[in-house]
Amino acid sequence: MTTTSIPAIATKRIAKSRISEVDFNNLEFGKYISDHMLMVDYVNGKWQEPSILPFGDIMMSPAMLSLHYGQSVFEGMKAFRNKNGDICIFRPQKHSERLNKSLARMCMPEIPEELFIQSLHAIVETDESWIPTSEGASLYIRPVVFAYEPRLGVKIADHFKFFVLTSPAGAYFSKPTRLKVEETFVRAAEGGTGFAKCAGNYGGAFYPTQVARQEGFDQVLWTDAKEHKYIDEAGVMNVMFVIDGKVITPKLTTALLDGVTRDTIIKLAPSLGMTVEERRVSVAEIEEAFKKGTLTEAFGAGTAAVVSPIAAINIHGVDYTVPTVTSNSFQQRAKEKLNNIRLGFEPDVHGWNYIIPAAR
Ligand code: COI
Repeated sequence: MTTTSIPAIATKRIAKSRISEVDFNNLEFGKYISDHMLMVDYVNGKWQEPSILPFGDIMMSPAMLSLHYGQSVFEGMKAFRNKNGDICIFRPQKHSERLNKSLARMCMPEIPEELFIQSLHAIVETDESWIPTSEGASLYIRPVVFAYEPRLGVKIADHFKFFVLTSPAGAYFSKPTRLKVEETFVRAAEGGTGFAKCAGNYGGAFYPTQVARQEGFDQVLWTDAKEHKYIDEAGVMNVMFVIDGKVITPKLTTALLDGVTRDTIIKLAPSLGMTVEERRVSVAEIEEAFKKGTLTEAFGAGTAAVVSPIAAINIHGVDYTVPTVTSNSFQQRAKEKLNNIRLGFEPDVHGWNYIIPAAR
């Protein structure tokens, strides 16, 4: 989809850009926030007009409901400068759908797709000079919605804010990750908020992840809350395996995030000659596949993580090493295809790219 113009948005520009402070050769994920932010208020039962202002602190009441009762959800998306110099925002409709599912689960007002996409368009265009062009880098987009109303009573807020920040970002993981299959702690139970991108899911994962880090792992590989028998996801990414030449990934439940990169890879797999099985994946099956040598790949898929190779998985205290990625690995080919589509080197047959043409 190519869109040349959107309705004008009230904009207050920063007096002096901070872009010279950015080390574009070393874009640690999340370190730099671009010059501007977009804000929209939800009051009197409807979303108001957006405005763009310099990135900075905002006034908040210590009694703000999101601080006390956790009504806060977010998204993570990416924009690129494609081979023609145009801006490409990847799959904004899918992110809009997911955000609205998260909002509904948290009793927060949905954001019309048009407002969401116009907001992304406006803020990315405003800070387009912050879009990195080095290989593997992108402008990470962080839309957030949170309860703004001050009140101590346990209630659904009536006043919310939606804002969008952007951040030039490089790779999320600098090397293949070591994961630990989690058998004590739980990220999400079926019927809970695991599928929603709400802030509490991440805060609740900090302690188990810290414990795993102290044991020498990078991330936790979460298992189902009931039996710790089936693999869910890795918290900042979904997981996929190649076993016996087939791509296998845990099927979505209410306890797993419906990852956009996960969905993208599933849709690209047939064109790469691979079939995908979305189903329950037991820890025992993975352990057995390691032992038999039939597991040839394990990787994470996420917006921030893109396609991230997994180096090792610890199951019941035993480290199993995943074979090294080669140029012929499925994950490598999938990652290349995904990047080629976003950068315009391959046709976007699925209509995933939202293109903002370069000013010429
Ligand atoms: C993303 O991939 O966008 C995420 O939200 C994961 C993490 C950076 C929170």
